Amino acid sequence: MASATEFSTLRTEIAGVPVIELAREFGTPAYIYDAGKIVERIQDLSMFETVRFAQKACSNIAILDLMRRHGVLVDAVSAGEIERAIAAGYATEGDPPPIVYTADIFDRESLEAVLRYGLHVNCGSPDMIDQYGERAPGGNITLRINPGFGHGHSQKTNTGGEHSKHGIWHEDLHDALRRADRHGLGVTGLHLHIGSGTDIEHLAQVCGASERLAREIGRTLTTISAGGGLPTPYRPGDTHADLTAYHRLWDDTRNRLADTFGHAVHLELEPGRYLVAESGYLLAEVRAVKQMGSNTFYVVDAGFNNLARPILYGAYHPISIAPASGKMESRAEQDVVVGGPLCESGDIFTQQDGGFVCKRSLPMAQIGDYLVIECAGAYGAVMGSNYNSKPLAAEVLIENGRPHLVRRRQTPQEVMQGEMIPAR
Ligand code: LLP
Repeated sequence: MASATEFSTLRTEIAGVPVIELAREFGTPAYIYDAGKIVERIQDLSMFETVRFAQKACSNIAILDLMRRHGVLVDAVSAGEIERAIAAGYATEGDPPPIVYTADIFDRESLEAVLRYGLHVNCGSPDMIDQYGERAPGGNITLRINPGFGHGHSQKTNTGGEHSKHGIWHEDLHDALRRADRHGLGVTGLHLHIGSGTDIEHLAQVCGASERLAREIGRTLTTISAGGGLPTPYRPGDTHADLTAYHRLWDDTRNRLADTFGHAVHLELEPGRYLVAESGYLLAEVRAVKQMGSNTFYVVDAGFNNLARPILYGAYHPISIAPASGKMESRAEQDVVVGGPLCESGDIFTQQDGGFVCKRSLPMAQIGDYLVIECAGAYGAVMGSNYNSKPLAAEVLIENGRPHLVRRRQTPQEVMQGEMIPAR
């Protein structure tokens, strides 16, 4: 049984580097990633033959380079993500394919990029099969099937069932196979992803659905993908999932299929959050401490422009205070609300789904102390925006005790880049 995760509300360092040094060198707000934690999570999954990182979770090219160096392949959902994978050193061809394009549509740029680089595609709509087949007949494709059920940490991250736009509806599998046939495309892969931030019980149901669908596709299949969705600990007491049991379910499934088909069936996993969530820390500075009636607010210089998960899903992130002195001072705790600088009252890190403000017990803090929002490596920086003309935060990767700047903070000029006033 995995042990329950604990989070401290007071810290002085991240991955062995003093917080005050990180703040001094890189400024705030900044995303700090602990490479060691990413490598640990990669190693947890070593029983899976192929781990394909869903880069949408954290696509900085330094993170992709780290994944590549540790044998992790990559998924791409846009022309931009394809370019990132290539910039990080991924080859365009190989077996299994180093980069797979997985989406529900081809926008025009992504179709051109896929054709230009000769990438393998995972089709999430019947139209994708036709659009690809018309341009590149005779190749091989993967089908992403919506099995008719799904689950996620929020309704917004549930990708299965008839309210989801994702995948090819399971009852349309034969139509999809006919379309592929018409273009001479071989269906070599089957992919199911029922949602993000789900649990092992729901994920386990996918095995059965996958096996049934695989048998309908038949022996052209050489790869099945379990998709992503693995949960990670966010709250005190959360545990890591039993991955050995999860792997066994999938391994048994693919072995039965291999017996039926008379050839090996390759197994892929496509995690995003699992690999990067715990590695990421959003470092901010406390800029105001104010009392609003019965509520004490810590107002920091990071907002939902930097981390949107709380305002979007009511997501919970552990929070700690790093004293400006750099010392582990003993401080009494108080119940506080943590907010950011944006001109919108929803800019609160301690909120529940529906926008209800919550209090969190945190150490007393003063202006100049640092506030660290933890488990922010997945869907953190990548969902950042320029709202209120705030620059995208700096990103820093700590590897072997050394911090490396992997994205510098945007300048005001970069925030306005591409805008123009029409000539009159
Ligand atoms: N594969 C596909 C096809 C996906 O759509 C996703 C996530 C993944 C894999 C990776 O899922 P993961 O292992 O990370 O759960 N912004 C939301 C999550 C959106 C997930 C989108 N797709 C959040 O902050 O929770």
